[in-house]
Amino acid sequence: MHRLSSSVLASFCVLLASFTQAQDTFDWNQITPTENLLWTPCNGNFECARLNVPLDYMNPNASSAAIALLRLPASVPNNSSDYRGPILFNPGGPGDSGVNFLLELAEELRTILGPQFDLVGFDPRGIARSVPSASFFATEAERVQFPVSGSLNASQDAFGRMYATAMLQSKLAAARDDGSLRFINTESTARDMLSIVHAHGQEKLQYAGFSYGTVLGATFAAMFPDKIERMLLDGVDDAEDYYSGAWMTNLIDTHKTWAAFLQGCVAAGPHRCALYEPTASAIDAKINNLQSTLRTRPIPAVLDLSMSAPSYAVVDYSLLRQTLLTTLYTPYGATGFQNLAAALNSLSLGNATALYQLIGGASASPPLFQCPTNASADVFQFLAEHDGSIAVACNDGKSVNPDYADVENHFRELCGTSPFCDIWGDLRMSCLGWPEYLRNNFTVSFKTNTSFPILFISNTADPVTPLVSAEKMSAGFDGSVLLLQDSPGHTSFAAASLCTFSHIASYFINGTLPEKGTVCSVDMELFPDPSNSTASLGRRLVNLASEEQEMLSVLLRLTETASRVFGRRSFAGIGSTPQ
Ligand SMILES: *[C@@H]1O[C@H](CO)[C@@H](O)[C@H](O)[C@H]1NC(C)=O
Ligand SMILES: *[C@@H]1O[C@H](CO)[C@@H](O)[C@H](O)[C@H]1NC(C)=O
Ligand SMILES: *[C@@H]1O[C@H](CO)[C@@H](O)[C@H](O)[C@H]1NC(C)=O
Ligand SMILES: *[C@@H]1O[C@H](CO)[C@@H](O)[C@H](O)[C@H]1NC(C)=O
Ligand SMILES: *[C@@H]1O[C@H](CO)[C@@H](O)[C@H](O)[C@H]1NC(C)=O
Ligand SMILES: *[C@@H]1O[C@H](CO)[C@@H](O)[C@H](O)[C@H]1NC(C)=O
Ligand SMILES: *[C@@H]1O[C@H](CO)[C@@H](O)[C@H](O)[C@H]1NC(C)=O
Ligand SMILES: *[C@@H]1O[C@H](CO)[C@@H](O)[C@H](O)[C@H]1NC(C)=O
Ligand SMILES: *[C@@H]1O[C@H](CO)[C@@H](O)[C@H](O)[C@H]1NC(C)=O
Ligand SMILES: *[C@@H]1O[C@H](CO)[C@@H](O)[C@H](O)[C@H]1NC(C)=O
Repeated sequence: MHRLSSSVLASFCVLLASFTQAQDTFDWNQITPTENLLWTPCNGNFECARLNVPLDYMNPNASSAAIALLRLPASVPNNSSDYRGPILFNPGGPGDSGVNFLLELAEELRTILGPQFDLVGFDPRGIARSVPSASFFATEAERVQFPVSGSLNASQDAFGRMYATAMLQSKLAAARDDGSLRFINTESTARDMLSIVHAHGQEKLQYAGFSYGTVLGATFAAMFPDKIERMLLDGVDDAEDYYSGAWMTNLIDTHKTWAAFLQGCVAAGPHRCALYEPTASAIDAKINNLQSTLRTRPIPAVLDLSMSAPSYAVVDYSLLRQTLLTTLYTPYGATGFQNLAAALNSLSLGNATALYQLIGGASASPPLFQCPTNASADVFQFLAEHDGSIAVACNDGKSVNPDYADVENHFRELCGTSPFCDIWGDLRMSCLGWPEYLRNNFTVSFKTNTSFPILFISNTADPVTPLVSAEKMSAGFDGSVLLLQDSPGHTSFAAASLCTFSHIASYFINGTLPEKGTVCSVDMELFPDPSNSTASLGRRLVNLASEEQEMLSVLLRLTETASRVFGRRSFAGIGSTPQ
C-alpha cells in the first residue's frame, strides 16, 4: 500500500538518483525469455532469468508475457536433501519491483532464513523489467511533466484538479494501450507465480508478501488452496476492500501510529526528541501551526546547486503532509520519528533542509539520473512502476462512479476514518475514467482451507494496513495464525524483533506456527539516546547471548534497509529505474 503521487515529482529525476542504492548493473536485454527457467549470473552473487508465461491464461497459445526474476540461489546443492526450493517475494505496491527488493535485502534474508532456500524476487507483469510494460507515456520526459497530486486539501482546486488529472491519465492509458493492458492484474500475476513454481520443478508455493503483496498472496491462496507450502502475509490489507476499489479501510489505525510519535516524543524528553513538549497535544498543536504556515508560505530547501548534481526543492504543505504519513511507515529507521522530530523543529525555525533530506534529498552520492528523452529505445529503462501500479489497481478494482458529487462523498467518508485522507484519497480517484472494457470481473472468495496454514503478521499500530484487516483475512483461512508485533510502523520489517524473526524462521524452516495470540515486542527504541549508540538496541542487548546479538545486528540492518525501501517507494515508485 504505497503512495503514488507527489509534488516532489518536479525534482523527480534528482530524487530518483539519490534513492537508488543497490544498483542493478545487469543488462536484461541480453537474456532471451524462455519457457524454462534458465539462470544467468548477474549482479554479483545473484542469478537472473526471464520466464515466458501466457499473456492471457484463457488463451495460452496466443501472445506471451516475460517475467523478470532475480534469485540468490540456495547455498546447498539443489539435489541434496537439505535443499528446500524457492521462496518468492512480493514487496507490495501494487507496482513495486521484487527484483529491487531482493537486490537490497537478500543477504539479510539469507542469514535469517538459512542456506537451504532459493530467494526469488520477480517483477510482476506490467512492472519495471517485466513485459508487457504498463506505460501511458511516449517518453520519460512526458511522464515527468505529467501533473501529479499532492494533498487533496492543499488548495481550493486541488481536489478538482486531481479529478481532471485522473480522467486525463485514464484516456492516455486507453490511447497508448497496445492490447496488453487488460492482462496486467493480480489474478494473472497469481497464475504467473504458479508458472514460476512449476518452472522451478516444484508443485507448491513458498511465499512472503508484504502490504499489497498480502493481496497477491491471499488471491493465490484463494485460487490455488492446495498449492500452498508456506505463505507469510505481513502488513495485511483487506483484500475485499482492495478489490472493491474503495480504499476505505487502510487508515483505520493511522491515529495509533501518530499517537506513538507524539507520546514517544513526550516520553523521550527534550534530549532525545527535538520537538519535545510536555504533552502530546502541545506537540500536535506545534505541527498544526507549521502546516498552516506552509500553506501560504512554502520554504525553499537547497542541498546542492552544482550543475552536475543539483538537489533542491520547495517544501510546501503537500510535501510536509506526505512526509508525515510516510514517516509513519518507518518509525525506527534513519527516516524515522527521531529525525522527523528534528526536521520539524528545524522547519519551525525556518530551515527546510532537514525535512528535504529526510525524504531523500541528501543521499546524492549515486550519479545524477538524466531524464532520457527517448526511453522507447530501451523498455527496461522505463520508469514504469507508477503506471504499472495504476494498471494493476484499476484493473483489479471495481469501476469508480465518475459522478463528481459521488466522488466527493466517497472522499468525505474516507476523511471520517482519518485526517490523512488528503494524502490517501487520490488512490481511488486514480481509477476515474479507467477503460471499462478492460474489466475482467475477477471474483474469488477469501475463505478456504489451504494445504498448509498461512502465517499472518500485523503490527499493533500500522498506519496503512490496520490490525482489523489482518484479523479479518486470517479468519477466512482455516488454520492460519495471526502473530502480532507490538510496534508502530508498516509491516514487521519496520522494527527489529528477535521474537518476530525467530517465528518467521521456524515457520519457513520447520513449518512451526506460533501459538495463537502470540505478541512479539521489538528490540529497538523509537527515540534512542543520541549519545549512546548501543541504546538503540534497547535494554535487552545487555542480556543477550552472542549469537542473538549477531542476529540482532542483522535485523537492524534489515530494518534500516527496509525503511529506506519502504520510505522511498512512498514517492511515486521512485527507485525503480534499472541501470
Ligand atoms: C496450444 O498448443 C499446444 C501445443 O502446441 C496444443 O497441444 C494445445 O492444444 C493448444 N491449446 C489451445 C487452447 O489451442
Ligand atoms: C540446480 O543446480 C544446478 C547446478 O548448480 C543448476 O544448473 C540448475 O539450474 C539448478 N536447478 C534448479 C531447478 O535451480
Ligand atoms: C548433485 O549434482 C552434482 C552436479 O551438480 C553431482 O556432482 C552430484 O553427484 C549430485 N548429487 C546427487 C546426490 O545426486
Ligand atoms: C483542510 O484544510 C482546512 C484548513 O484550510 C482544515 O480545516 C481541514 O481540517 C483540512 N481537512 C483535511 C481533511 O485535512
Ligand atoms: C539548515 O539545516 C541544515 C541541515 O540541518 C544545516 O546544514 C544548515 O546549516 C542549516 N542552515 C542554516 C541557515 O541554519
Ligand atoms: C527514439 O527511439 C526510437 C526507437 O528506438 C527510434 O526509432 C527513434 O529514432 C528515436 N528518436 C530519437 C530522437 O532518438
Ligand atoms: C463485467 O461486468 C460488467 C458489469 O456487470 C459487464 O458489463 C461486462 O460485460 C463484464 N465483463 C466480462 C468480461 O464479462
Ligand atoms: C475447512 O475444513 C474443515 C474440516 O475439514 C471444515 O470443517 C471447514 O468447513 C473448511 N472450511 C472452509 C472454509 O471450507
Ligand atoms: C527447527 O527444528 C529443529 C529440530 O527440532 C531445531 O533444532 C531448530 O532450532 C528449529 N529451527 C528453527 C528456526 O526454529
Ligand atoms: C547505553 O545504553 C545501554 C542500553 O540502554 C545501557 O545499558 C548503557 O549503560 C548506556 N551507556 C551509557 C554510557 O550510558
